[in-house]
Amino acid sequence: MLTPKTFYLDTMGCQMNVLDSELVSGMLCSCGYEAVRDIQSADIVLVNTCSVRDHAEEKAYSRLGQLKSIKSRRPRLIVGVIGCMAQRDPKGILAKADHVDLLCGPSQLDHIPAMLDEVAAGRSPVISVSSEQSRLLDPARRSLEALDSLEELDRSRIPLPGQSVLQRYVRVQRGCDQFCTFCVVPFTRGPERSRDPRRIVEEAKILADRGAKEITLLGQTVNSYSYLEMGRRTGLADLLARINDVSGVERIRFVTSYPGDFSDNLFYAMCDLPKVCEYLHIPAQSGSNEVLKRMRRDYSVESYIDLMHRAREIVPEIQLAGDFIVGFCGEIEDDFERTVALVETVRYKNIFCFKYSPRPGTAADRHQADDVPTAVKRRRNSQLLKVQEQIAARENQRMIGRSVEVLVEGYSKAAVKAQQAEQSRGHEVGWRRSDQLVGRTRGDHIVVFNGDRSLIGRLIGVRVVSATALTLHAVPDAAIEHGTTAASTPQR
Ligand code: SAH
Ligand code: F3S
Repeated sequence: MLTPKTFYLDTMGCQMNVLDSELVSGMLCSCGYEAVRDIQSADIVLVNTCSVRDHAEEKAYSRLGQLKSIKSRRPRLIVGVIGCMAQRDPKGILAKADHVDLLCGPSQLDHIPAMLDEVAAGRSPVISVSSEQSRLLDPARRSLEALDSLEELDRSRIPLPGQSVLQRYVRVQRGCDQFCTFCVVPFTRGPERSRDPRRIVEEAKILADRGAKEITLLGQTVNSYSYLEMGRRTGLADLLARINDVSGVERIRFVTSYPGDFSDNLFYAMCDLPKVCEYLHIPAQSGSNEVLKRMRRDYSVESYIDLMHRAREIVPEIQLAGDFIVGFCGEIEDDFERTVALVETVRYKNIFCFKYSPRPGTAADRHQADDVPTAVKRRRNSQLLKVQEQIAARENQRMIGRSVEVLVEGYSKAAVKAQQAEQSRGHEVGWRRSDQLVGRTRGDHIVVFNGDRSLIGRLIGVRVVSATALTLHAVPDAAIEHGTTAASTPQR
């Protein structure tokens, strides 16, 4: 068999997966493989999967189905499943999809080049997942040995297609120790481990040198970041201060925070450190203490609300985002009403709302009945989203007339669509001097406005003139000029 040379990486799921794919892509490129944007011309297709809800797994299976038919025409195609699904159930995947050649869990991604060599040598399927034992007994060794070699390759990091060079992710933590009863993440990504702050800062510097303006620190419970070096503990607030000193970085965010044990220090960091954005993603999951208990979330609704009050008291401009699960085991209408009340009290900028999906192996799946009918889950989901939409529409109206700083990310979706329509009619597309651009505020509001494309990659001031629940419309505000340099290539 000829050595395969080109690969296509399909990424599903969360920001952590986007980052993992970026690392895998960089690693494969530095091993001599070439990334292609078209599945049909790829020798290798890797699907980076998500296990957090059943729907995500179904999506991966449907992609594997498509790959099966491609492979029937091109038997040399190598198909790999990487990420959380591969870790959760490698045998189950092989039983349903016997054309899969490679299965690799999220903690072994650095094994992929060697695994591909094995497949090329005719051994298939090749499986690498972390064993229960290695996860429980030796988490530190795993992270140091296996994953640091991958991190070395951060130097070859380039954004995936569709991702911007302006906004980059940096992992500060792996895994999670929280074991919320509904969640598969501690099983697929292993125990919580915080990365060395020196490496994190180094990575931020490299990314800034390559044009990054905004760095988002990623962790499952990012506020519990903690690293001991020579007897000194570095917490998230200290880490933020260190990244705040990295020149070129203009904005810093961190996601996702866990409401238990949340230190006010982080609010003070938002006030004191100019680059740390006034934005907090802090999932509540439910507004009912009974449900929170069954979810094993170790805070109460009252302490969560109190935390949100302190957030607004200390950081008046703060924008809040939350996650909610509706239809969790035993959730009755009264519990749901409490969730609605919580959403109304907190006035989030936005929420992510999910219908409970039992995950094999989790405590909830083993010990609690998934007893809320699908139709009820669906109704609660759309009801909660409707409530949030009204709140967001109202809150966004209050932004009208205000001047805000935006990081200009590129052309708006409408502008891109118009361009594509022109192209499909065979017209040559030259951008008009003033076209619709899109950017984000420090609080993560999406803002569209007309402006010259030279603004892309810059921090500028705009004045909000109208608003919907999802988008602010603005005009450039000549009175405010932020930032200094423009990135020359915002998109790849
Ligand atoms: N701390 C992590 C949580 C990962 S899962 C982070 O946000 O980065 C992301 C969200 O998916 C959770 O906050 C939760 O709202 C939702 N979720 C997790 N497991 C779920 C399940 N079994 N069913 C439905 N939603 C789930
Ligand atoms: Fe999942 Fe809870 Fe951790 S939602 S990622 S177990 S904080």
